[in-house]
Amino acid sequence: MTIDELTSLGESQSSVILSKSCTLLPREGNPEPRYCDLPHGSINSMGLPNLGYQKYGEFAPLLKKYNKPYFVSVSGLSLADNIKIISDLSDIQEIAAFELNLSCPNVIGKPQVGYDFNQTRQVLGEVMRITKKPLGVKLPPYFDFAHFEEMAKILNNHKISFVSCINSLGNGLFIDADSEKAVIKPKGGFGGLGGEYVKPTALANVRKFYELLRKDIAIIGVGGIATGRDAFEFLLCGASAAQVGTAYQQQGTAVFARLEKEFAAFLEKKGCHSLDEVKGKLKTINN
Ligand SMILES: Cc1cc2nc3c(=O)[nH]c(=O)nc-3n(C[C@H](O)[C@H](O)[C@H](O)COP(=O)(O)O)c2cc1C
Repeated sequence: MTIDELTSLGESQSSVILSKSCTLLPREGNPEPRYCDLPHGSINSMGLPNLGYQKYGEFAPLLKKYNKPYFVSVSGLSLADNIKIISDLSDIQEIAAFELNLSCPNVIGKPQVGYDFNQTRQVLGEVMRITKKPLGVKLPPYFDFAHFEEMAKILNNHKISFVSCINSLGNGLFIDADSEKAVIKPKGGFGGLGGEYVKPTALANVRKFYELLRKDIAIIGVGGIATGRDAFEFLLCGASAAQVGTAYQQQGTAVFARLEKEFAAFLEKKGCHSLDEVKGKLKTINN
C-alpha cells in the first residue's frame, strides 16, 4: 500500500511489483480489527484502504530502478471511477499493466462486480477502449460450471491479457468459542478467506479457466500458495505465474525468495527443465 512496502517488494525476489487495489479517492478502509491470522490461513475485511490512485501513479517512476514490471491494481467504486483511474494512469510509462479488481468482497454496500455478468460485460467493454496497456482482471471464485462458462465467454470477447484467480473466498465467518465473538470487527465478523482453506477452490478456478479461455490469456494463480510445491500445483493446472496474499501478509517479502528456491528445487527433483513441460499438464484418473 505504501511506497515503503512497494520499495521492499522491489528489493525482494518477487518478479513483479503489484500495488494495493486503488480507488479514486484515498480510503481508510473498514474499522479494526479487520485482519486475523487463522490456523490454516486468514480472514480479512480490509475495505480497500489505499492512498488514492494518484499516489500509485506518482510511485511509478520511483520504482523504475528495480527493473521489474509495476502493475497497478484498480478497484474503482463505479464504472466512471474505473474509467477515470485507468485513463489517467495510462499515460504513465513506468506502469506495465493494470489488474482490474472485479472481486473485492469487503466493501460495505458494494456487491462484487464479478458475480454480475451483465455489469462485467459493460465494465470490460468500456474499460478496454481507453487503454493501450495490458489489462487483466482479478476474479472472484466461481463454484458452478455454468458460471465459469458464462464468465469465460465474456472474457474471450475482450482483449484482456491475463486473469488472476482467485480473490478471497468471500464472506466467511471465523469465531472464537471461548469469547463467543467473531475475530474481526467489520460486517459482524464476515470476511474474505485466504490461505489453505481456499487452495482447492483456487486450483479449480485456474484449471477451469485454463480449459475455457483463449490461449493468449495468461492465468495468474492465487489462493493458498505458501510453498514451492503449492506453486507447482498451480502450474500443473495451467497458471503462468503465482500471486501471494496471506503468506506475504504473514511472512513479509522474505516469502518470495523461499518460494522461488523451493519451486526450483521441486522442478529439479521432478527432472523438469522448462515450465512448458508441466504447464497445464494435470493428469486425471481414467482407470
Ligand atoms: C490483507 C489482505 C489484503 C488484500 N488486498 C487485496 C487487494 O487490495 N486487492 C485484491 O485484488 N486482492 C486483495 N487480497 C486478496 C489476495 O490478493 C488473494 O487473492 C487472496 O487472499 C487469496 O490468496 P492467498 O490465499 O494467498 O491469501 C487481499 C488479501 C489479504 C489477506
